[in-house]
Amino acid sequence: MNIAAFASGRGSNLKAILEKIESGDLKNAKISVIICNNSKAKVFELASRFNIDSFHISGKTLPDKKQYENKIMDILENYRIEMIVLAGYMKLLPPGIIKNFKGDIINVHPALLPRFGGKGMYGINVHKAVIESGEKETGVTIHYVNERYDEGKIIKQIKVPVKGNDTPEELAARVLITEHNLYWRVINSIINEK
Ligand code: GRF
Repeated sequence: MNIAAFASGRGSNLKAILEKIESGDLKNAKISVIICNNSKAKVFELASRFNIDSFHISGKTLPDKKQYENKIMDILENYRIEMIVLAGYMKLLPPGIIKNFKGDIINVHPALLPRFGGKGMYGINVHKAVIESGEKETGVTIHYVNERYDEGKIIKQIKVPVKGNDTPEELAARVLITEHNLYWRVINSIINEK
């Protein structure tokens, strides 16, 4: 399965997936290309470490929406991509990409959707909101991607406890471990089903 990974930042979820491919736990998966909207993102270091082609595509350098979409589409076609994995990608995918890859795009979110999702609910904001609303548990959601932030069909969720004295950073770290444990397994199940 040829996979394109989209990321915007440090890429720890992508790293966890690449390590599972490398160790042979995640079979029949290849991250063929990485697309990132932030030229300074750490994920580019990961791309060179694992010898994966990577592209910086941003709305700033490519303001024309159609050109932006076409550029992404060209890359996905060139690499014969069959599945898109969003791993900390902060942008909405262009509508043409969503349409063409319907049912083949997945995302990881660091909370139990549909709660604590949507625009603005990313990074530490999610964990701050969870703690502020007094939740006893949060978690990780892997879901299909549609045109709206965090609204696609849920594939798998795992709960993570919120401790009384958790700071948002402590909670984020606990949730992140679960993300790393879960994401590759979901990719594995999808590949096996196909
Ligand atoms: C993760 O918490 C993920 O759930 C969210 O963005 C964060 C990305 O972290 N969508 P990383 O870049 O994978 O380290």
